[in-house]
Amino acid sequence: MTEKLRVAALSELPTGTGLEVTVGGRVIAIFRTDDGVRAIDGICAHAGGPLGKGTISGGVVTCPWHGWQYDVNTGTHCLTPAICQQPFEVTIEDDDVFVEIP
Ligand code: FES
Repeated sequence: MTEKLRVAALSELPTGTGLEVTVGGRVIAIFRTDDGVRAIDGICAHAGGPLGKGTISGGVVTCPWHGWQYDVNTGTHCLTPAICQQPFEVTIEDDDVFVEIP
């Protein structure tokens, strides 16, 4: 059953930033881009780095540990599409950001 959980206040997430949250037993990376708010699995597939603490540019997050890059819209690794961080559905209600955890 999918859980819809509040993860942040939109006002605390300026465009071009990200954050790491732990909800529903999962570590989730939340990003706000020019296209909106996106959420993907926050634990990097390479060695477990914190993607929510990575740098975000043009819809791509760069892992702070060794530089792997992922498209935050799909969770797909930029060089190796077979590697994919699970994306999560995001909804905004007033100033609240919610993520749906399957
Ligand atoms: S842990 Fe993310 S690039 Fe190594």
